[in-house]
Amino acid sequence: MLHTRILGTGFVTGEHLIKNDDLTKMMDTSDQWIRERSGVEERYYVEAGTSTSDLGVAAARKALDDAGVAAAEVDYIVFATMTPDHFFPGCGGILQHKLGLGHVPALDIRQQCTGFIYGLQICDALLLSGQAKTMLLVAAEVHTGFMPWTQWDYLFGRPGPAPTEQEKAWNSRFRDRTVLFGDAAGAVVLRAAEGDRGLLGFKVHSDGADLESLYVKSCGFAQRPYVTERDLHEGRHIPEMNGKHVFKLAVTRMPQVVREVCDANGVHVQDIDLLIAHQANLRINEMVQRVLELPDAKVFNNIQRYGNTTAATIPIAFDEARRAGRVKDGDLVCFVGLGAGFHWGAALLRA
Ligand code: ACO
Repeated sequence: MLHTRILGTGFVTGEHLIKNDDLTKMMDTSDQWIRERSGVEERYYVEAGTSTSDLGVAAARKALDDAGVAAAEVDYIVFATMTPDHFFPGCGGILQHKLGLGHVPALDIRQQCTGFIYGLQICDALLLSGQAKTMLLVAAEVHTGFMPWTQWDYLFGRPGPAPTEQEKAWNSRFRDRTVLFGDAAGAVVLRAAEGDRGLLGFKVHSDGADLESLYVKSCGFAQRPYVTERDLHEGRHIPEMNGKHVFKLAVTRMPQVVREVCDANGVHVQDIDLLIAHQANLRINEMVQRVLELPDAKVFNNIQRYGNTTAATIPIAFDEARRAGRVKDGDLVCFVGLGAGFHWGAALLRA
């Protein structure tokens, strides 16, 4: 039987390692608060000028290398991001050009933290239907564009002005969100092949009714002009989030959708060898693990070192888990995520 196989994986991060203590230079926060509430210890930020497509290209090159596939063999690109280089067009075409791929189709998708799972489903459908032969799925984010501060040199340890007390107070208004995110990209190369191994199935959901629990309220074409001075002045370009509500949705919907995808594919939750959940908050993932009654040996988390990199968290964790020997041939791997939209879903892979 034909299945979609992941042939290679790769990831990159932004250039600057930023520890929790570094963030105390910008706002009223602490290493203790960030660790206790989210598990995040450090994250990476890009240098000014490095864009989402730049990170995507670097991750894609690593995944192609790992797969032993030449860039010229890629005949379809899917790019998942909520932080594209431009409002339009999307990053897929930019990545195609930067990789010198010729006029292959390039699709951008916007499912935020569930982008990688939706992306896998799209790749699987295109590969199994014969419409593509070798696909590149890239998930990349540069979140630093919505950080509220301007003193980047100071944060990066270079000569430059420190934030004033007033600026620190402004930055602190957004501290519940900004401390969570990092910049990074992950990529996978996929092909269909005969055999039992590969992607087994998906279960994905969306619920547009809950949009306001996690969204960028402004800077959209529902207003004229779509970006205003007031937006920047009031910080309306920065995502708004009802953290407690998102937390509750994540700890209920992620276990549910893992059960759904297992049921639909005739396996038990206890058959899962490795659960790789979206890395939004370590406390969320610990609770999901408890609800699913999975032992530590069957769960992989790395939010401690990268923060929340939205679409990129799952491919990054999968790459690290593979390289750490946590994914063996024949293992049942489950990916699960939930994010803004809301979109959530799970996928099963026989490695
Ligand atoms: N440093 C210090 N104190 C802080 C910080 C910070 N960075 N952020 C908030 N606080 C303070 C608050 O001001 C508040 O203080 P008060 O009690 O004096 O008023 C207190 O800490 C508690 O704040 P809450 O926001 O209620 O903290 P909570 O326990 O809910 O944790 C968190 C916040 C970590 C954001 C949590 O709600 C969460 O992780 N939610 C889910 C986030 C998520 O999954 N997002 C989805 C992914 S993103 C995407 O899809 C794009």
